[in-house]
Amino acid sequence: MDRYLVNFNINDIPAEHYDAVIIGSGIAGVYTALQTDRRVNIAVITKETLDISNSVLAQGGIAVSLDKDDSPECHFKDTIYAGAGLCNEETVWTLVSEAAENIEILCRYGVNFDKSDEHHLALSREGAHSRNRIVHTGDATGKEVCDTLIHALIKHDNVRIYERTYAIDIITDNRKCIGILSYLEDSGEYKLFLADAIVCASGGYGQLYNYTTNPPVATGDGAAMAYRAGCRLMDLEFVQFHPTVLYHPQNRSFLISEAVRGEGAVLLNEKGERFMQGCHPMAELAPRDVVSRAIFREIGKTGSTHVYLDISHKEPEYVKHRFPTIYKTCLQYGIDITRDKIPVAPAAHYSMGGIMTDSYGRTGIEGFYACGEAACNGIHGANRLASNSLLEGLVFGRRIALEISSRVLGRTKHETVIPDNLVVSEKKNGPLEDAGELKSRLRRLMTEKVGIIRNEENLKEALNQVMEIKRETEGKACTTIEQWELVNMLTLAELVIKSALMRKESRGAHYRTDYPHTDDVNFRKNTII
Ligand code: SIN
Repeated sequence: MDRYLVNFNINDIPAEHYDAVIIGSGIAGVYTALQTDRRVNIAVITKETLDISNSVLAQGGIAVSLDKDDSPECHFKDTIYAGAGLCNEETVWTLVSEAAENIEILCRYGVNFDKSDEHHLALSREGAHSRNRIVHTGDATGKEVCDTLIHALIKHDNVRIYERTYAIDIITDNRKCIGILSYLEDSGEYKLFLADAIVCASGGYGQLYNYTTNPPVATGDGAAMAYRAGCRLMDLEFVQFHPTVLYHPQNRSFLISEAVRGEGAVLLNEKGERFMQGCHPMAELAPRDVVSRAIFREIGKTGSTHVYLDISHKEPEYVKHRFPTIYKTCLQYGIDITRDKIPVAPAAHYSMGGIMTDSYGRTGIEGFYACGEAACNGIHGANRLASNSLLEGLVFGRRIALEISSRVLGRTKHETVIPDNLVVSEKKNGPLEDAGELKSRLRRLMTEKVGIIRNEENLKEALNQVMEIKRETEGKACTTIEQWELVNMLTLAELVIKSALMRKESRGAHYRTDYPHTDDVNFRKNTII
């Protein structure tokens, strides 16, 4: 594996100096920028436009224990239970105990959460939560939060935003991160962002799969670039499949929020029978991995392609008001959710694994931090509890913001020194052709062989095929975003499969038919690559 994706001579690339550079404009990236001291000079670089991220698409909400019958202890317990024995208790405690103060900050920025009365936020329920604790804005919470935060960010004059700017690689010198090599899509030029602190908040790797709720940008670039630079990655085998994604010939990526089940929707098979009651005491509100597997099995049993989610027993005006986005979107496809059952099937939704960090987002490389879905600090374990992901971006984004503020403001001089001899010139044998077609091949392979249900034979076959595609790409020149994404996806696919092969047990989102039981003696530990 080459250390850098492209050949370059550091002296030939125009450079800009910042105190901190943040990659990604989802909740983790934007909130980190907002919470950093205003004296810190920041660049936020994002692959597409500011408003394109996984966070924007989040429907359900943000988990926080605000109810009088709830507590951080109770939220902690539910998170640990859903995580199937692999959560890091210290970081989970940080997450749940710092939740309320961050929600308060969001309210101060002007986020308009739904209220139950003049003084209280409305709290809804989602899978594996033992209390009502999801604050939300209808069914478009991510959009409300991101729009509000972005609106605040563009007024910060210490922050410069670079859209359509692709982070190719972090530049390191003696295990210290000094900047990012990036590509400006509009001008077709490379640019170096040099900084004392680089924060990777570039999201997960849902695009490894054919069917995903993630936007096209979620190609695992952050984890792959961190790996090339020598960072440890953790728990990559745990890919969360959301149980209820619209199943329609024209749309197989639209999320039907778990909040719909939280409001009483039931899952039905082809014959119109409920099937979750026999699977788990929490039935439709069991942890996500349990529900996704049950649907997958039900589909297999009946030979169908999907199951149904039914909320038609609820009062239509309530449903329309509580889930306006879902109502309108389904209606576009001829499904009136106040009357009709919604066809659904599981799709890849969230990457539990990522760049290994501590509770301040620190990676093993000095000056390089990771946050949000790109990171893995152990809070999600083997299966993320619903609505803990936006919360993760807030809690750990703020902690990183504090850390980089004191790092930058506490320095005695500008610490970034550019190594003037950094020249990368690997021999290349022509351009990499057909990156788009190879990406599709990879996605089909991951979907068929590394999905919800796995086994040794399929995983080995998948690994062989990934290595074959890698051989087709090796030594070829990559100069486009599509090509860089393909290389990153191949890196991640290989590591996801190797991690899945190593874990000879079933736990959380990782289920193997050849090892159907959880093996606490040998595998109650994280996979670190
Ligand atoms: C949903 O609304 O079901 C998604 C929330 C989440 O992924 O936590």
